[in-house]
Amino acid sequence: MPQEVRAVIAPGKNEPVRVETIVVPDPGPGEAVVQVQACGVCHTDLHYKQGGINDEFPFLLGHEAAGVVESVGEGVTDVAPGDFVILNWRAVCGQCRACLRGRPWYCFDTHNAKQRMTLTDGTELSPALGIGAFAEKTLVAAGQCTKVDASVSAAVAGLLGCGVMAGIGAAINTGNVGRGDTVAVIGCGGVGDAAIAGSNLAGAAKIIAVDIDDRKLETARKMGATHTVNSKETDPVEAIRELTGGFGADVVIEAVGRPETYKQAFYGRDLAGTVVLVGVPTPEMKLELPLLDVFGRGGALKSSWYGDCLPSRDFPMLIDLHLQGRLDLGAFVTETIRLDEVEQAFERMHHGDVLRSVVVL
Ligand SMILES: NC(=O)c1ccc[n+]([C@@H]2O[C@H](COP(=O)([O-])OP(=O)(O)OC[C@H]3O[C@@H](n4cnc5c(N)ncnc54)[C@H](O)[C@@H]3O)[C@@H](O)[C@H]2O)c1
Ligand SMILES: [Zn+2]
Ligand SMILES: [Zn+2]
Repeated sequence: MPQEVRAVIAPGKNEPVRVETIVVPDPGPGEAVVQVQACGVCHTDLHYKQGGINDEFPFLLGHEAAGVVESVGEGVTDVAPGDFVILNWRAVCGQCRACLRGRPWYCFDTHNAKQRMTLTDGTELSPALGIGAFAEKTLVAAGQCTKVDASVSAAVAGLLGCGVMAGIGAAINTGNVGRGDTVAVIGCGGVGDAAIAGSNLAGAAKIIAVDIDDRKLETARKMGATHTVNSKETDPVEAIRELTGGFGADVVIEAVGRPETYKQAFYGRDLAGTVVLVGVPTPEMKLELPLLDVFGRGGALKSSWYGDCLPSRDFPMLIDLHLQGRLDLGAFVTETIRLDEVEQAFERMHHGDVLRSVVVL
């Protein structure tokens, strides 16, 4: 029987979000209905609301979630009702050329639930990143559910579903940060701070946090930054070089998504170092660099999609590290809020007041 539940809808471009009743169908083949317990508010949800992703309104927002599987459709064997899961937005297909080459984190054909959730009048909803979890229940592809240790709090677990995984993965998967490396992270929001925590976990010797907001730099220190640079006051490239014996960092992670910060990352890196772009640019942005510098400085210029994570490998591992006290995921949760407080949470995010607001259901 399709169920009616409460959920946060973005009705139209720049209109305030509101709580509405939606209809969640029974799971079809390969699908699962998940009882959402917590869902973080991410910058991407705000992009959807502003019409910055596409104009397929109304959107069902929310995509950093954890909850319990309520029911599964035909053919689902990886998860079962009662499992505590983190939702992911890149359910790998297992069939595409990336998957077949043994590199499923690049999967070029990730999938979502086939059926649509609707408003009570039948209007089809577009779930943010194929999830839509500011809702009491949501319908996803079963491959979007990854079972983890149920003793972790849902508010903490859900964060691995997007920004925190993207940041940690940018450091440990894409950037390959290892013991003794010097790292600089430009932009210390949720994603940048996670890159700092990830670099710390990987044994980086020096972690330089760069931001234009002193409050963000203070938090970055708590996440493991050894040095901080306010790039409004100090030239960050100079500062990074000074802090690394005049050379630049082995790995620079750009977690803003702008040409000027990308250039800082490019020049703040040591010869043969690595730049990781995890910040997401907008379509009109352009980058201009002397090609000779691209050649002469060598190394690797990489982008990080979702931290190049493999949920089945990375989610349970990071939850275990958290439960052992080796990775403080709780530090990312600034506040917990109700379903009807998402609009205010967007305001606070816009003003840089929070790392993560998490809706708890
Ligand atoms: N690649 C992925 O898979 C992935 C996943 C999630 C989010 N993201 C992207 O990562 C980026 C960061 O997300 P977030 O949630 O941390 O956002 P956020 O708004 O919380 O953080 C952005 C930070 O950048 C700082 N900043 C802004 N302009 C700056 C500048 N010129 N120089 C230095 N710092 C500056 C801000 O003060 C803030 O601390 C976004 O572009 C987001 O879309 C990427
Ligand atoms: Zn694939
Ligand atoms: Zn997100």
